[in-house]
Amino acid sequence: MNLIDIDSEICTACGLCIVECPFGLLAQQTGDVPDLIPGGESFCMRCGHCLAVCPVGALALDGETPESCDPAQTGAVVDPPAMAALLKNRRSIREYKDRPVPRKDMQELMEPVRWAPTAKNEQPVHWLLVDDRAAIHDLARLTVEWAREIDRMPELVTAWDAGKDLVLRNAPLLAIATAPSDGLSPVIDSTIAASALELAATAYGLGSCWAGYFMRAAQQYGPIAERLNLPRGHQVCAALMMGYPKRTYHRVPPRKPADVTWLGSV
Ligand SMILES: Cc1cc2nc3c(=O)[nH]c(=O)nc-3n(C[C@H](O)[C@H](O)[C@H](O)COP(=O)(O)O)c2cc1C
Repeated sequence: MNLIDIDSEICTACGLCIVECPFGLLAQQTGDVPDLIPGGESFCMRCGHCLAVCPVGALALDGETPESCDPAQTGAVVDPPAMAALLKNRRSIREYKDRPVPRKDMQELMEPVRWAPTAKNEQPVHWLLVDDRAAIHDLARLTVEWAREIDRMPELVTAWDAGKDLVLRNAPLLAIATAPSDGLSPVIDSTIAASALELAATAYGLGSCWAGYFMRAAQQYGPIAERLNLPRGHQVCAALMMGYPKRTYHRVPPRKPADVTWLGSV
C-alpha cells in the first residue's frame, strides 16, 4: 500500500493537496496527478490535510479513503455567542452528586477529544479513566501521604485528617491523561486534550475540575505511578476530576480583562 494514493480518474490536478501539505511533500509535473516527492514518506505526519482538502475525493492517505472520513462542516460550527457562553459558563466543579458517570457517555466524549491538536500530529495521549470510588480515594490518600512526606501543602493534610478530601473531592470519576515522556510535547498535548474534554463534558451535564495536587504528586511520587500501572515510558501529564455538579451557578464570576498587546503597524 502506498502512503498516498490518488485516483487519476477522479483527480482534476487542481493542486490543492500540494499547497495544503504543511511540509510541501506533494508535487506535480505540469498538469499531472500529484505524487509524493522522493523521501516524502518519512516526513509525512499523517495529518490528513491532503485528504481533507481534496474537493473531488480523489486522494487516500495511509489506507484512509475519502469515504472513510466524516464529511466536514464548512463555516463556523458554533456561532460567537454560543462559543463565548460555552467558555464563560464552564466552572471548576468541586462537589459532585452521588451518581456514577456512565461509561457509555465517557466513551462518547473521548471520541471528539481525539481531534485536539498535538505536536506533529503525534496523538500521544492515553486516557486512564478511574471510576472506582475506592481507587480514587486511595489515589487521594497517596497524594496526602506524599504531601506529608515532603512537608508541604499543609492544607491538604489538615483537611484529610479531618475527613475532608481536598485532593480529588470524592469525585466519581478521575480522567488521567498520560503520554510518552520522550514525545515532542507530552504535557502540552495532554493539557490541550484535557481542556477539550473539560469543555465537551459540559454538553453531557458533567462538571470537572483540574486535579492539580494529584497531578504533581503523580509526577513526583513513585507509589502513585506504581498504582496507576502506566503504559511503559508514559508520564502523568494532566488529570480531571469529573462528575455531575451538585450546585448551580447563577452568574458568571468576573475575570481580569484580556491582557493583550498588539504588535504591528496600524
Ligand atoms: C493546572 C490547574 C490545576 C488546578 N488544580 C486544582 C486542584 O488541585 N484543586 C482544585 O480545587 N482546583 C484546581 N484548579 C482549578 C482552579 O482553581 C480554577 O480553574 C480557578 O480557580 C478558576 O475557577 P473556574 O475554573 O471555575 O473558572 C486547577 C486549575 C488548573 C488550570
